[in-house]
Amino acid sequence: MSSMYDDLKYVLITKEQISERVKAIAGRLEDDYRDKNPLMVAILKGSVMFFSDLVKNMKIPLGIDFMAISSYGSGTRSSGEVRVNKDLDKKIEGRHVIIVEDIVDSGYTLMYLKRMLGSRNPASIKICTLLDKKSRRETPITPDYYCFDVADEFVVGYGLDYSEKYRNLPEIGVLKEEIYQ
Ligand code: IMP
Ligand code: MG
Repeated sequence: MSSMYDDLKYVLITKEQISERVKAIAGRLEDDYRDKNPLMVAILKGSVMFFSDLVKNMKIPLGIDFMAISSYGSGTRSSGEVRVNKDLDKKIEGRHVIIVEDIVDSGYTLMYLKRMLGSRNPASIKICTLLDKKSRRETPITPDYYCFDVADEFVVGYGLDYSEKYRNLPEIGVLKEEIYQ
C-alpha cells in the first residue's frame, strides 16, 4: 500500500509540537484581543487545520470568515499575483482583523492581502502564520504571530500541499526533492 509518508524526506514537526505551539499562540492572541471581538480570517485552503485548532483554543468572543485565493507562480514559487476566488462574507470596517495563513515565503501573497483588506478600513490588521520561511522573504512582510521558523525546504502536511496533495497529513514534513523536481 502506498503511503504519503513515502514521499517525505522526514517529519519536521510532530503533532505534539504543533499542538503545543498552537496553544501558546492562541494564548497570546487571547491576551491581545480580549474584549476586541477579533475577526479571524482563514486563507483557504492551506490554513484550515491550523485555523480550526487555533480558534478552538481561544476562549474569547471572536468571529470567523474565509477567503479563498490562488497565487500564480511556477511550481513551488509564488509570483505575487493573487486572484481572489472567494471574498469575505461580511464587511470588516471597524473590526480587528487577524489574517491566518499557512506559511509566509516570499511574502507577496500577504503583502497583497494586507493591502487589499487594509483598504476596507478595519480597526487593525495583523498576520498570524503557522510557518515562517524567513530566508526566502522578498518583501517587508513580517508576521505578527508565528508558530515555527522553517528553513528553505518545501514542506507539506497539516494543511500545506504540493499539487493539492498531503494536506491531510497530521504532521509537517519535508517533501523529497524528486517529487517536485
Ligand atoms: P508567498 O507569496 O511566496 O509568501 O507564498 C505563500 C504561499 O506559497 C503559501 O500560502 C503556500 O500556499 C505556498 N508555499 C510557500 N512555501 C511553501 C511550502 O514550503 N510548502 C507548501 N506551500 C508553500
Ligand atoms: Mg498552497
